[in-house]
Amino acid sequence: MNKITIAIDGFSSTGKSTVAKQLAKALGYVYVDSGAMYRAVTFYAMENGLINDDDFNSEALIYQLQDINISFKFNANLGFAEVYLNEVNIEKQIRTLEVSSFVSQVAAISEVRQKLVEQQQKMGKNKGVVMDGRDIGTIVFPDAELKLFMTASAETRAERRYQELIERGDKVEYNAVLNNVQERDYIDSNRKDSPLVKAKDAIEIDNSNLTLEEQFNKILQLAKMTI
Ligand code: C5P
Repeated sequence: MNKITIAIDGFSSTGKSTVAKQLAKALGYVYVDSGAMYRAVTFYAMENGLINDDDFNSEALIYQLQDINISFKFNANLGFAEVYLNEVNIEKQIRTLEVSSFVSQVAAISEVRQKLVEQQQKMGKNKGVVMDGRDIGTIVFPDAELKLFMTASAETRAERRYQELIERGDKVEYNAVLNNVQERDYIDSNRKDSPLVKAKDAIEIDNSNLTLEEQFNKILQLAKMTI
């Protein structure tokens, strides 16, 4: 069967990764979480003392980019690939509110984007990939056959992310999560390099009032019509 590239972009916590995983599974495609790669670089910077409180040494990070090796390994129990930093599984560590609060600053650095976009393009070169992020339909795969742009109100998104963090056992306040979601959206949409914008040929899906099942069925149908 003909394989295509599916690009899913949108604001923070719009449920992109949930539907991307479901879609990849249904189609037998590879799922790539590009946000996990930006989170991995951020985690590296935190672990190596390049981010302290509000002080971020971006020059040192750029200098050390060559020491950062990000890879994915499929976990059959979970049904998706987990992210590794220099061969260490960091899937859990990158989902904290602390990493979320710095990741958009790290993702605004052109040198970081250049390195990760190159790797993402290599991962998708044989098609049969579902990748989610902020610039997948615009920069990484401008020729993707199917582009989706997910939206939902900031409150709906913050509530979802808050529940996720609470279920993991993290102690967080709803307002801190809402502030983080809004701040990341602002930085992601206003950065100079590859800002978050809807690609002209992307289909917008507002999932504020859709159940996961309704959303999945809608998107699967779009994918089948495209393939
Ligand atoms: O998707 P997720 O929320 O995990 O992404 C974390 C952050 O990584 C985003 O807020 C954004 O700053 C950055 N990102 C990006 N480009 C992508 C994917 C994520 O700039 N393609």
